[in-house]
Amino acid sequence: MSTYHKGGVLILDFGSQYTQLIARRVREHKVYSEILPPETALEDILTRSPSALILSGGPSSVFGDEAPDFDQAILNTSIPILGICYGLQLLAHHHGGLVESTGSGEYGSAEIQIDSHDGLFTGASNCSQVWMSHMDRVTQLPNGWHTLAHSSNGVIAAMANSDQSRVATQFHPEVVHTEEGDLFLKNFLFNIAGCNPTWTAGNFIDEQVALIRKHVGDGKVLVGVSGGVDSSVVAALMHKAIGDRSTAVLIDHGLMRKDEAKSCVEALKDGLGVNIHCFDESELFLSQLTDITDPEKKRKIIGNQFIYSFDRIAGEMGEMDFLAQGTLYPDVIESGVSKGKSAHVIKSHHNVGGLPEDMRFELVEPLRELFKDEVRNVGRELGLPESLIERHPFPGPGLGVRIIGDITRERISILQEADQIYMDILHEDGLYNDIWQAFSVLIPVQTVGVMGDQRTYENLLGIRAVTSTDGMTADWFRMPSKTLTKISNRIVNSVRGINRVVYDITSKPPGTIEWE
Ligand code: XMP
Repeated sequence: MSTYHKGGVLILDFGSQYTQLIARRVREHKVYSEILPPETALEDILTRSPSALILSGGPSSVFGDEAPDFDQAILNTSIPILGICYGLQLLAHHHGGLVESTGSGEYGSAEIQIDSHDGLFTGASNCSQVWMSHMDRVTQLPNGWHTLAHSSNGVIAAMANSDQSRVATQFHPEVVHTEEGDLFLKNFLFNIAGCNPTWTAGNFIDEQVALIRKHVGDGKVLVGVSGGVDSSVVAALMHKAIGDRSTAVLIDHGLMRKDEAKSCVEALKDGLGVNIHCFDESELFLSQLTDITDPEKKRKIIGNQFIYSFDRIAGEMGEMDFLAQGTLYPDVIESGVSKGKSAHVIKSHHNVGGLPEDMRFELVEPLRELFKDEVRNVGRELGLPESLIERHPFPGPGLGVRIIGDITRERISILQEADQIYMDILHEDGLYNDIWQAFSVLIPVQTVGVMGDQRTYENLLGIRAVTSTDGMTADWFRMPSKTLTKISNRIVNSVRGINRVVYDITSKPPGTIEWE
């Protein structure tokens, strides 16, 4: 086991929508955290030598038939435990307290009064704003336990046993709406559980380099690079671990953003010495896309050709033993591994556009334990440029799903030019990093305009910017009007073929992020 895993925090997931958030918050304090299924046996837990356990929230009632199984022996160990919401009720129930459903819960923002400023609430205000989301409540404490805080509705908001090795909150400290949540979590990690802040990008890199060398031995590794941050970090990490025995390939399908392939290769090859090859396969992709307007057909053509190209190029690279890819921790969690299912699913929506089904490589996934912000920190530590690290997510089919209707080289070029201007202005106005994803869409509608004394009849461009945490839901970004004016003026004045710009104000749901 790696040293940074030891002394980490294990989170038993009882089904809360916030479990990933708990894991991220813990890691923000440089403490390793891992999500495990609720029924994980004490034996398994002990092999991981954790400093602390967190019992997450969840939709069940501790006294209901559907309450998830868990190993009660965990409660008798000396490992400090923090229970959150359902986790609080679970601790109360199993230590002899009373949990009841009183018919009314607390949802949303609530005010709590702190009754004891020791331990969990060291340094906290007397009165604090928190986020609640519960139906059941603790109506009687277990013997020897005491209340740490109560809500303005008289509900026990936090409690602890006598030595505070068991503490619990009815509210959610991991949610930003809990104003001092970060302080409470920090108090638990360092004052109560005695964790060490050793989970850093530098430690991760050192450990991964050693692990990759051990795993790969004398073998050769192929890395699929898409132009985005995850696969670029994998390429840089593999290079650091095994040098030229790692070969990175970037397949340019002709539908990338302006100069994207070039700048990615430059950053990796010139900047870090990575052994990377770029293949211009655009003719193969674009010739099949002529007259194709149906989005799903476009996706299929691009996805299939990607597989053919990848297979052929991999063959040309000579004998390869491993394939390295940028699977992240949220993909691992979604694929069910943390929920006790052992199936190892390769995400079909993956950025490099899907992989051949009969892969003859063994997979290497050095980022499997990381969240996106951690990948960015690792990228920084490895010396990748900020422009690549902060780049917004980009779909595998690229501009293919941002050119509505026919895809031609001319229309790709119009969209690339316009999109580049849009991105430049977001950087100039300091907005790029406030946005989760921003892009332009070429719409097959021509509208009338006037430039000088000339009547124009040109294309319509849609621009979109959304805020999101994972792309599952999104809100449209409230773009300042002076930025919108600048974008529209500069695009219409300098991109031939566009004479009107519209801003998309649709959230997801009911819209999707992409237009196709
Ligand atoms: P939607 O449009 O479904 O997008 O709201 C959610 C996120 O997924 C990206 N996306 C894709 N990524 N292949 C990909 O690799 C695809 O076919 C694809 N379609 C959408 C989209 O850019 C957004 O980040």
